[in-house]
Amino acid sequence: MKSRIQQISSEIDSITISSLDELEQFRIKLLGKKGLITELFNDFRVVPVEQKKEIGQLVNQLKNKAIDFIESTRLKFKSSSNSEYIDLSIQQEFQDFGTRHPISLIKNELFSIFHKLGFVLSEGPEIEDDWHVFSALNFPEEHPARDMQDTFFIEKNPDILLRTHTSSVQVRSMENDKLPIRVICPGRVFRNEAISARAHCIFHQIEGLYIDKGVSFADLKQTLLFFSRELFGPETNIRLRPSFFPFTEPSAEMDVSCKLCGGKGCSVCKHTGWLEVLGCGMVDPSVLELNNIDSKVYSGFAFGIGLERLAMLKYGVKDLRLYFENDVRFLNIFRNYL
Ligand code: DAH
Repeated sequence: MKSRIQQISSEIDSITISSLDELEQFRIKLLGKKGLITELFNDFRVVPVEQKKEIGQLVNQLKNKAIDFIESTRLKFKSSSNSEYIDLSIQQEFQDFGTRHPISLIKNELFSIFHKLGFVLSEGPEIEDDWHVFSALNFPEEHPARDMQDTFFIEKNPDILLRTHTSSVQVRSMENDKLPIRVICPGRVFRNEAISARAHCIFHQIEGLYIDKGVSFADLKQTLLFFSRELFGPETNIRLRPSFFPFTEPSAEMDVSCKLCGGKGCSVCKHTGWLEVLGCGMVDPSVLELNNIDSKVYSGFAFGIGLERLAMLKYGVKDLRLYFENDVRFLNIFRNYL
């Protein structure tokens, strides 16, 4: 009997198992109803009394060795990735859904507002040339916006640069689209500025352009009033302050009445009751001419909106850098917005 025990023990030591099926076969061979170890237990009854203690210990050790071997081999198969063992009872890991980024939220909201007014989407490249960003928009040669300090130029070629505003897409629209033109142009823009709570070297704008026969400043004002009331609520008022942009004449900056204090004055609006939102104006006739549009027949208006600033006003975000850090604690705040 001792030699049979020895034999089974060395078989356990030397066997190589390559699948769970083989393991099950081996288990049956040793521990099944007619298994080798089960037989040893049956034969144990006829072992002489004086040997029972020693043989009993050996048979039990062998049984434990076989069980350990089978269990540890089974575990090895379970944990190896190419195992054929699939545990269907394991609970699925909880997958958290992402949230929309506040810049995407505000962008989508602007799309749907301007869509109601018949504006369509137009996009252009982020890497641009001087013509589309400056020259075609009536920027004089010596204009400071062309300066190395503001503009990122590419490979020391002053003609190729990262667009500093989405007004460049206006030019591409005038080049490619049929009149009348009514587009909004969203996109990233780049300026060589120090990063702080109020400024960043990358930000987002939406440009608007409407060119047709007989477009007036009243059309611009009404469009902006509609947009402001849709975005900030029906009580919102706007005011237009005279300003200057090389590509619009006249030019203006638009403020909306501060929603927080109802126009009475608070720390957010710096006690003025107004918040600055965008730049706008009537497209300068020389810009139309530069883009082969007859300025005696056609007129147009344009506006440019900074999305980070708009989202700051709408959602009360105080630091511009938060938009770029992708900190989930910040992004989770927007979980309930659609
Ligand atoms: N491009 C201007 C900027 O980046 C914004 C702007 C102002 C766009 C007036 C316009 C406009 O279309 O009419 O500061």
